[in-house]
Amino acid sequence: MSLFPVYRPRRTRRTPALRGLVRETRLSVEQLILPFFVVPGQGVRKPVGSMPGVFQTSVDELVKDAREAYELGIPAVLLFGIPESKDATGSLSWHEHGVVQEGVRAIKQALPDLLVITDVCMCEYTSHGHCGVLHGEQVDNDETLELLARQALSHARAGADIIAPSDMMDGRVAAIRQTLDDEGFAGVPILSYAAKYASAFYGPFREAAESAPQFGDRRGYQMDAANSDEALREVLLDIDEGADIIMVKPALAYLDVIYRVKQETGYPVCAYHVSGEYSMVLAAGQLGWLDVDRAMTESLLAIRRAGADMIITYWAREFARQSR
Ligand code: PBG
Repeated sequence: MSLFPVYRPRRTRRTPALRGLVRETRLSVEQLILPFFVVPGQGVRKPVGSMPGVFQTSVDELVKDAREAYELGIPAVLLFGIPESKDATGSLSWHEHGVVQEGVRAIKQALPDLLVITDVCMCEYTSHGHCGVLHGEQVDNDETLELLARQALSHARAGADIIAPSDMMDGRVAAIRQTLDDEGFAGVPILSYAAKYASAFYGPFREAAESAPQFGDRRGYQMDAANSDEALREVLLDIDEGADIIMVKPALAYLDVIYRVKQETGYPVCAYHVSGEYSMVLAAGQLGWLDVDRAMTESLLAIRRAGADMIITYWAREFARQSR
């Protein structure tokens, strides 16, 4: 039996105001998190070739960018650090005066209400570019946990509002939670990269963060693109270990995972709209093959529709400007 012509879906599409009234999913700047890449030095602002609009900046320039983001209504930024030098254990990652630690302090001093999230991982700090300590060519899980906890603690001491471990070691949420609690940071939430896939879409990021592995790949610790039941197990484990917000990453190629995680846990879900997802749209735009602004809004909306409460995206500023 057909309802036509009694029900005509086109009736509520006739004007922008009507479309607005029946719109199911809202996308607002309050839901966006903007990543930044911090390098040593002063007055540094170096464009990342594969990510138009994205820069590596020194702390002084970082504060300017953070202020701009804050003034646009973006509630949170995510910091990645590129250290002065790298070694086998990534020892600059937990240095009191490391780039991220100094970046956190400077932003919190200038803009106390802007949330500062720090990415906790070893790959930007290790000479081999892997996300943990190596034994031969294998990343040693349990030895890495202690270093991650140390790094997380140094971020919390610098004033980080949220700690975001992205390394994919087993047990790292528990290790970080324990250390933070023991050291007086029980109130600092953990945003866990719970379902992080070994993805080709991180390509441009590795230029931005100078974190490409020097041999092999990350399949020994990041997830296989074929699995979504396993994503649920990863997420439930992290919740069990004390994660407050869970992340699915990348976003667009994993909308089903975002949907399942939101439906099955009811936890706050963050999606990382990653570098490749950003750059491929810009590249197509440069060729004149699509309308960048519309493709980006559509992408972010799709991620929200799948169930993400918040989205990490390099496009946060542009979206904020566009929606003013
Ligand atoms: C690891 C990390 C990566 C990203 C965020 N944290 C790269 C990786 O796992 O290789 C990727 C983010 C992006 O592509 O935008 N520290």
